[in-house]
Amino acid sequence: MRLRNPKNKEEILKNSKILLKLDKPIKLKNIFKNNNPICLEIGMGKGDFIYQMATNYPNINFVGVEKYDGVICKAIKKLEEYELDNLRLIRCDAADLEKYIKKEIDTIYLNFSDPWPKKRYHKRRLTHENLLKTYDALFKGKKHIFFKTDNIDLFNDSVIYLKNYGYDIVNISYDLHKENIENFQTEYEKKFSDLGYKINYLEAIKK
Ligand SMILES: C[S@@+](CC[C@H](N)C(=O)[O-])C[C@H]1O[C@@H](n2cnc3c(N)ncnc32)[C@H](O)[C@@H]1O
Repeated sequence: MRLRNPKNKEEILKNSKILLKLDKPIKLKNIFKNNNPICLEIGMGKGDFIYQMATNYPNINFVGVEKYDGVICKAIKKLEEYELDNLRLIRCDAADLEKYIKKEIDTIYLNFSDPWPKKRYHKRRLTHENLLKTYDALFKGKKHIFFKTDNIDLFNDSVIYLKNYGYDIVNISYDLHKENIENFQTEYEKKFSDLGYKINYLEAIKK
C-alpha cells in the first residue's frame, strides 16, 4: 500500500503522541509503563487490525509498524483520537526493527504482507528467512508469529520459509472465515474476502 504523502506530513509525524521516535533504541516496557505482553503488527497499513486488537485486549500492548509516511500518517490521524494507552506506532522498515527493539516482543502479526511474486524479490517478503532472522532479535523468548493472506503462493512459500527456519506450524487454515477462530479483519482482508478470495491463516511457534 502506498498513499500520497499529506501536505502537512512533517507536522503530523512530529506532533503525533502515538508515534515513537527512533533516534535511539526504544525500551517499550518504559513507554507502556507496565509488564504486559507486547505484540507487533508489521506492515499494519492504516491500522484497522491493530486498533481492534488494542481495544479488545487492553492488558496487552500493541505496536504497529509501517514503512510508508503516507500510510502511517493516515493511521496516526485515525488512531490518535482514541487515546489508547496500549497502542503505539513505529515508522520503520521491518528489516531495521532490530536496531530499535531488543528482546521485548511476545508475538508478531503479519497481515496481507506484500506478495512480491517475482522470484528476484522474494527476499523482500516479510515471511522470508532473512526477515525471520531479524525478528529473532526482537522476541523476548519463544517466537510466535501469526500470518494471514489471500495470496496462496505467498502462503505456501511462507510455510516453507517458517519450517526451514525451525518454526512449528501449530495452526493452519486455507479458509479462515469458515473456522471457529477469533479473527479481527484487516482492510485488505475485507477487500479480498468481498471479492470471493479465501483467506489463508497460520500460527507458527519456535522455541
Ligand atoms: C498489502 S498492505 C496490507 C496492510 C494491512 N496489513 C492490511 O491487511 O490491510 C501491506 C503493508 O505493509 C507495508 N510494508 C511493506 N513492506 C514493509 C516493510 N518492509 N516494513 C514495514 N512495512 C512494510 C506496506 O507499506 C503496506 O502498508
